[in-house]
Amino acid sequence: MIASLRESVQAIQKRCGGFVPETALVLGSGLGFLGELCRDAVTIPYADIPGFPLSTAPGHAGRLVLGELAGRRVAVMQGRFHYYEGYTYAEAAYGVRALRLLGAETLLVTNAAGGLGGHFTPGDIMMITDHIKFFDESPLRGENISELGTRFPDMSYAYTPALRETARRAAGELGIALREGVYMYFPGPQYETPAEIRAAGALGADAVGMSTVPEVIAAVHAGMDVLGFSLICNMAAGLREQKLSEGDVLDADEKAKGLFSKLVLRCLERMP
Ligand code: HPA
Repeated sequence: MIASLRESVQAIQKRCGGFVPETALVLGSGLGFLGELCRDAVTIPYADIPGFPLSTAPGHAGRLVLGELAGRRVAVMQGRFHYYEGYTYAEAAYGVRALRLLGAETLLVTNAAGGLGGHFTPGDIMMITDHIKFFDESPLRGENISELGTRFPDMSYAYTPALRETARRAAGELGIALREGVYMYFPGPQYETPAEIRAAGALGADAVGMSTVPEVIAAVHAGMDVLGFSLICNMAAGLREQKLSEGDVLDADEKAKGLFSKLVLRCLERMP
């Protein structure tokens, strides 16, 4: 794995002339367009990076954009790798690990999620304060990559407190009522049942989704600071009369795009 990661990093370095990103951005459906706002950008299709998995989900472009965004040197992953597509968790975390080796010290991650509890409405942005992942294996399973981190990484502060404070201030400046809560990971691709959602609520989840946590675990293992946001696209199963549909999720993505992207850009600007 480390040999493959090194090969990926070398290929990226060759294409971008030694550019070292400060922040890696993994943007869920809807926000990938931020990659297009990068200045002096170099765009590399994943297919051109040896070792990189290829993205198949709708709305995920499958390329890496390196450039300047909101005054930061960033690497934007336009498209991520989900377990439900058939990738392993190690593959889901691969891009983040490669970008860490390229020099990125911070991960900013966004996703679409279903909201639990009466305090959410679709369109809300929830900053992730912590997560729950009970299902399947860890992206760190197997021989530890000691070049990246330790065998048993601490997860007490997975979502960096100082960055959460930055995000609160950024949201305040923009007049966004930023929600906060715990994201619970489900492997999907089926949405949860109402009973699973009741269980998730009892366990302390505020939102549920099928991404992000594998990448965050890999980032924390590798010593990165992490800031994560969920766009609440729908109320989770059983909390409304209607059934869940991917169309509704994409609609909500589309509607919230403007505000959500402003928040991400302001956070980048304000990051310490
Ligand atoms: N469940 C899981 N993933 C999701 C949901 C949901 O309700 N909404 C958007 N992504």
